[in-house]
Amino acid sequence: MTDPTTSNDSANAGGMLKENALKGKTIIVTGGGTGLGKAMGTYFLQLGANLVITSRKLDVLQQTAAEMESETQVKVLPIACDVRKYDEVENMLQQAIEAFGRVDVLLNNAAGNFISPTERLSANAFSAIIDIVLKGSANCSLALGKYWINEKIPGNILNIVTTYAFTGSAYVVPSSCAKGGVLAMTRSLAVEWGRHGIRTNAIAPGPFPTKGAWERLLPGDMAQKFDFKNRVPLKRVGEHQELANLAAFLVSDFSGYINGEVITIDGGEWLQGAGQFSALEMIPDAMWDNIEKATRSA
Ligand code: HXC
Ligand code: NAP
Repeated sequence: MTDPTTSNDSANAGGMLKENALKGKTIIVTGGGTGLGKAMGTYFLQLGANLVITSRKLDVLQQTAAEMESETQVKVLPIACDVRKYDEVENMLQQAIEAFGRVDVLLNNAAGNFISPTERLSANAFSAIIDIVLKGSANCSLALGKYWINEKIPGNILNIVTTYAFTGSAYVVPSSCAKGGVLAMTRSLAVEWGRHGIRTNAIAPGPFPTKGAWERLLPGDMAQKFDFKNRVPLKRVGEHQELANLAAFLVSDFSGYINGEVITIDGGEWLQGAGQFSALEMIPDAMWDNIEKATRSA
């Protein structure tokens, strides 16, 4: 019999959209040099998009651009830009327009995060996360929104949040506040800028292992002790291609009537955490005969 925890047809399914589905679109991916940004950007390139990857570390971006180019034979534009600084965002946008003629899509993916009891945080530590995640996403959305409205371009914003943007989470409170703010911005702009043809959506991923996230959220042996896959009904973490498929759909014209939506991709993780009786999965099948007798006789 197939083991449902190791057989993973969806993760092995590969790319979802048809060839050239993103042809002619120029896409900016913030935080595009590493982790999930790199995975989504690579798939956008494979689908024919022009790609701009941006973050603070130019050397990392250049290395990633070289890898992407050798994989896809398509040119990638790496631009250093700290999303906390509006003038750098404006400058990055101008460079992207000069290189490709126009920009169609913004993927707000850059983030900062680490686990900590909140009372141990300095005010500066709290602000550091809010500045990258909320202010950074706001800066990029503002610069792109002004440009699209001026140029009458039907732009598209995709924000990467998390499931705790709507549930909240202990021990990552600054990130939780910031992602909650990005989710509110997603829904607000979807309505306000919809009349300009600009769509704004979000993805709330569950656990998708990356170096950046795992080093800061599950350092040392915490990754073994606090194994994320046990929190997921499907008993596995996400595959980067699964997220890339969803992101590509949402930035493509195939999702043209989706606006103001947040799509969760977490294998059911947050619902398992929320359900009062979810822990009953620990009860072995053999015990249910006795439990049934007890509940029937009540
Ligand atoms: C307590 C900390 C800290 C820590 C930094 N600080 N790390 N406090 N615990 N682990 C404090 C510092 O002492 C300082 O406060 C303030 O935070 C700012 O620190 P800097 O190092 O100056 O900040 P900066 O250079 O801006 O770096 C930001 C960073 C860093 C977030 C701290 O880790 C970073 O660059 N991260 C980017 C990548 C990242 O985080 N990726 C993970 C995303 S994962 P004082 O008071 O001393 O000045 C994610 C997943 C969500 O979001 C859901 C997963 C399931
Ligand atoms: P990651 O590899 O650490 O990515 C974070 C990126 O943000 C890095 O490339 C970093 O590059 C960039 N960045 C940080 N501060 C920046 C700044 N001030 N200006 C510009 N760029 C900045 O982590 P990841 O796991 O791929 O996370 C990507 C996104 O997915 C994040 O939004 C995260 O919250 C979200 N997410 C991840 C998971 C998961 O399980 N991995 C789950 C839910 C949500 P530089 O250091 O070069 O600036």
